[in-house]
Amino acid sequence: EQSELEARARAVKERFGRRLFIPGHHYQKDEVIQFADATGDSLQLAQLAAKNSEAEYIVFCGVHFMAETADILTSDDQTVILPDLRAGCSMADMADIFQVERAWAALIERFGETIVPLVYVNSTAAIKAFVGRHGGATVTSSNAKKMMAWAFSRNERIFFLPDQHLGRNTAYALGIRLDEMAVWDPHDETLQGADDLDKVKVILWKGHCSVHENFTVRQIEHIRRMKPGIHVIVHPECSWEVVQQADYAGSTKYIIETIRNAPPGTQWAIGTEMNLVNRLKHEHPDKEIVSLNPYMCPCLTMNRIDLPHFVWVLESLEQGAIVNRITVPKDIALEAKEALDRMLSLA
Ligand code: 13P
Ligand code: SF4
Repeated sequence: EQSELEARARAVKERFGRRLFIPGHHYQKDEVIQFADATGDSLQLAQLAAKNSEAEYIVFCGVHFMAETADILTSDDQTVILPDLRAGCSMADMADIFQVERAWAALIERFGETIVPLVYVNSTAAIKAFVGRHGGATVTSSNAKKMMAWAFSRNERIFFLPDQHLGRNTAYALGIRLDEMAVWDPHDETLQGADDLDKVKVILWKGHCSVHENFTVRQIEHIRRMKPGIHVIVHPECSWEVVQQADYAGSTKYIIETIRNAPPGTQWAIGTEMNLVNRLKHEHPDKEIVSLNPYMCPCLTMNRIDLPHFVWVLESLEQGAIVNRITVPKDIALEAKEALDRMLSLA
């Protein structure tokens, strides 16, 4: 059954040629990533979308916010398709535009016009538009440090959303102390965690990734006891405590390159999504690779993109039916593009 579906996918791909472009995020399943024309981390996938002007159809193997970003960065006559519309992101779901507008009003009232908003690409297009409108920019895990430095060159404070961990890890790496950071809770609309609000330089949204929160300091201690000398590498969506204990932290692209460049015989514990860890294990039999979390950590929404959905959208296209199209309304797309362009021009 799998090989029959694979043959059908291959046939459609061949018939469409360059009219069809298939980008794939590193967390995607092997059964679909094998058909990707290009793979990448979130930044690379955004750059690819911005550059690709020839493909009529972009079948995005990733999650909803990535497909929205691709739609914003491509022209009107290019169609972006997400094989399963249920492929969302639990982190992006932790901030909606209404909560963000209320937070911003409260923060401006408290701190005056001293804040630059920075939004992780793992967010809705409406929030990116809000950030674009207020002079801010998007960030990804591979350029967050550069983007925070940029934001600090423009004003005194940063409002970072929706991932508190990426925000905290990045600010800390730039020399901001933990007591100079506060957390905005969108549910009770309070600022938490700072004794003196006047000292606050970074305001973090209380959001997180439900996959990466499953990695803990105890796991790092345990694996180091079991395998002395093992290297621990994690994604910066992990908590500050985990990133501090790890040997290395960075985006999916960084993790892949670090493992690729590691000498044979070295041991690695990786704290990121399961499909990527398994792929790295398979591609590097000369190194010992384990998941930092023994139960592995799948991203359930990334995994919604499977071969049956993929073949369904491709074959529908052939029959002249566009299913699961992702379209960002024009007014939102224009402002969101401002936030994305500020990042892409610096990256
Ligand atoms: P990167 O590939 O940019 O590191 O992003 C990780 C991620 O969680 C995407 O949802
Ligand atoms: Fe969202 Fe986390 Fe899945 Fe990435 S890994 S798509 S941040 S839930």
